[in-house]
Amino acid sequence: MTIKIKNQNEIFKIFGINQSYNKKPINRIKTVPEVVDKLKKLENLREKIEMIEDCELKKKANKIVFNDGNENSHIMFVGEGPGQREDEIGKPFVGDAGLLLNKMLNAINLKRKDIYITNVVNYRPPGNRKPETNEILKYAEFLKEHICIINPKILVLMGSTAMEALFGKKIKISKSRGEWQNLIINNKLFKTIITFHPAYLLRQPDQKRFSWEDLKKIKKEIDIISKN
Ligand code: URA
Repeated sequence: MTIKIKNQNEIFKIFGINQSYNKKPINRIKTVPEVVDKLKKLENLREKIEMIEDCELKKKANKIVFNDGNENSHIMFVGEGPGQREDEIGKPFVGDAGLLLNKMLNAINLKRKDIYITNVVNYRPPGNRKPETNEILKYAEFLKEHICIINPKILVLMGSTAMEALFGKKIKISKSRGEWQNLIINNKLFKTIITFHPAYLLRQPDQKRFSWEDLKKIKKEIDIISKN
């Protein structure tokens, strides 16, 4: 005898599964356009930066250094600008400061693939000089757009250049690091923490203890958001 099974609920009954099948379609497709949209927006932003004119940084650099990590991460890190190694490879934080950053991330159970990372300026400043105020201001517009696209729940600004790009010169890193700040971009609030730049920690290793305090705060916040 062949059994004709009319629908999923009959299969559940045959196997003694106490569950019923709801005909409503599952909205699996919903997140796909969001992901595509994010990638498209990132690509557009990258192209916009590549089209910058009259930029001393761009003229002298080898490669654009745009991003690394996971664009769907809730944690976004922002550094200052590419150094020599980053300029050669086209990825942020691949030199000595990057190695230290990896160790700092590991200390709070994170890997590079768990975070998203970019810099204030996307081209290497000649001789690794600090970006000038006009350069910071110019690239801050792209950075704000970048943050809105990634839409992180936790934003970590590493060093005074990232701090200046988003908060201006009114605050000092020595006073403001380690405190959660509200950064508002386009009416949206981003929970932000300022911490020392890994390159600074390489020069001033005694400051690492402050950095560790900041990392613990970041970890605590990650634990909170991953429960929600
Ligand atoms: N320092 C930065 O701020 N960014 C990098 O990508 C590398 C070093």
